[in-house]
Amino acid sequence: MKLPIDTLRDLHTPFYCYDLSLLRHTLKVINDEIEGYPFVVHYALKANANPVILGEIVKAGFGTDLVSGNEVLAALDAGFIASKMAYAGVGKTDWEIEAGIDNDIYCFNVESVPEMEVINEIAARKGRTAGIAIRVNPNIDAHTHRYITTGTTDNKFGIDIPVLDEVVEKAVNLPNIHLRGLHFHIGSQITTLEPYKMLCEKINELVEHFEKMGVKFEMIDVGGGLGVDYENPEENPIAPFHDFFDVFKQGLKLHEGQKVHFELGRSIVGQCGSLISKVVFVKENSVKKFVILDAGMTDLIRPALYSAHHKIVNLTSQESDMETYDVVGPICESSDVFSTDERLPLTHRGDLIAILTAGAYGESMASRYNMRDLPQSKFIKG
Ligand code: LLP
Repeated sequence: MKLPIDTLRDLHTPFYCYDLSLLRHTLKVINDEIEGYPFVVHYALKANANPVILGEIVKAGFGTDLVSGNEVLAALDAGFIASKMAYAGVGKTDWEIEAGIDNDIYCFNVESVPEMEVINEIAARKGRTAGIAIRVNPNIDAHTHRYITTGTTDNKFGIDIPVLDEVVEKAVNLPNIHLRGLHFHIGSQITTLEPYKMLCEKINELVEHFEKMGVKFEMIDVGGGLGVDYENPEENPIAPFHDFFDVFKQGLKLHEGQKVHFELGRSIVGQCGSLISKVVFVKENSVKKFVILDAGMTDLIRPALYSAHHKIVNLTSQESDMETYDVVGPICESSDVFSTDERLPLTHRGDLIAILTAGAYGESMASRYNMRDLPQSKFIKG
């Protein structure tokens, strides 16, 4: 992303800066890749629910993947259509289930039998039928950070394969449930395609198995998780969508009329956002030099929470000499560190710093800890 430094210099920091032309280009690449295939892409709102970003994604015709009642309402507000909404999450409360049913969303991605029973009960009370997909835990290791791997039996998501027959049978027989398909999501920031190939094989087996039992699915939801390049964002601003979709084009044995749903978050919005911050102080102790920013873990928690590394750029330094710094925030927590041993040009108080690839799980995970203000957002239209 090309940042207009002269414009940014005068703005109050920290703020998220979004490149809408990159976002539009990303959306177009995805739409071009899926054209002619029975593929539907749902945007995972949790990655970034900034209304301007949502407006762009609505225009591209995407559906949504939602994980709370408030996300359902925000998606409706933004103009997404209910018939392309999937609602996942292990702990949907009654009002959240009602919000989904009242607005006639396409399906609930159901994570347990008790949840399925409650959805059936609430739908019955309202004289409605709720579409569902059963979230299957395929026990595939996505080889990503342990906090964002979701498809193994160690974690809370989905229903295990050994009990799936019973659960599918139950879903078919509950009167106010309409079983639309199976749902999978194996993790996030997945950077090899192997786990997706394994997922396709598992899906083919299951679809065939249930077809023999007389159960046909109208769709298979393969989840999201496609990773982005945090180290070389300028070289790779677009995630490898061609190869990603190709795995499913080649790997899935679809039946007549069957659709494949994708739930992409990070790969859609990750690269279009940067966190822009100012250097408050440069400080030195006996072993280290610290660049202290006015942005902290309250604005972007990924480094503190997952030890994630985002590329850091000094936008304004005119220096040619390089120095090694720990780049930290102002929050009273030792984990409030964006990067250790980061090589930057000599950096001074007042310099403008960009933390790149911050469009996904940046603004949406911001908090008001230390009573700090939430970060603002600015948009470059390109
Ligand atoms: N579908 C489901 C059921 C999910 O749980 C998620 C993400 C997605 C789709 C979208 O995944 P994506 O395409 O964005 O990888 N905060 C973490 C990521 C948490 C992901 C949670 N689930 C991070 O900053 O890395």
